[in-house]
Amino acid sequence: MGAMTDAMNTDDMDWDGAYRGTGDLGGPPPWNIGEPQPELAALIHDGKVRSEVLDAGCGHAELSLALAADGYTVVGIDLSPTAIAAASEAAARRNLTTATFVADDITSFTGFDGRFSTVIDSTLFHSLPVEGRDGYLQAILRAAAPGATYFVLVFARGAFPAEWTTKPNEVDENELRDVVGKYWAVAEVRPAFIHANTVTPPPGVELPGPDHPRDDKGRMKFPALLLTAHKPG
Ligand SMILES: C[S@@+](CC[C@H](N)C(=O)[O-])C[C@H]1O[C@@H](n2cnc3c(N)ncnc32)[C@H](O)[C@@H]1O
Repeated sequence: MGAMTDAMNTDDMDWDGAYRGTGDLGGPPPWNIGEPQPELAALIHDGKVRSEVLDAGCGHAELSLALAADGYTVVGIDLSPTAIAAASEAAARRNLTTATFVADDITSFTGFDGRFSTVIDSTLFHSLPVEGRDGYLQAILRAAAPGATYFVLVFARGAFPAEWTTKPNEVDENELRDVVGKYWAVAEVRPAFIHANTVTPPPGVELPGPDHPRDDKGRMKFPALLLTAHKPG
């Protein structure tokens, strides 16, 4: 994850380059785990997700694709045209007609007013510059239907070693509650995990050791928070 964090000074991350393989990651994006994040798959399994769904910052969109395979109607939005093309091709290949994908900036997109009953943020929040958060939260609120549910899976503060100077914009619980609570009614924030593939670290950066928590597929598990909120009113 070292290479990822070095490049993930999120204010200047070249997201499309990451998907084209021309960014600083030194390999495929470590967040492309080939399936939805397990914490989010559990929400789907538990019946917590209602159509229509917005997959905010969808990337290759395994979350959207899993939802569509389960019969949900879902829209994935991402800044990266390369990721959007890959997600659209995967949907066509898998014969999934209820997933559509749009290349746009999640901090300012329009055109979906009042539409989504569920908004899911699968590791987008910590990828945005801090100053982009308000625009993002307002844009998804505008796109949300009355009573909509919002889920955020985000790196917890301290997920990465303190000596790493560039890393995702980790949050602590109070910060997350305060920022999201400006626009959404926060129901719960609980500890969770983000699963990621290991990548080669840049020189001088040490990956967490072999005792770092891993899942049963050998992927690294990083401390995260899972927030649930509702559209007020
Ligand atoms: C860590 S990746 C997560 C991708 C995907 N949700 C997943 O779980 O695999 C963060 C994603 O946010 C997207 N992103 C970053 N800034 C964005 C913005 N302003 N608008 C839309 N998408 C953005 C990136 O292109 C990238 O696909």
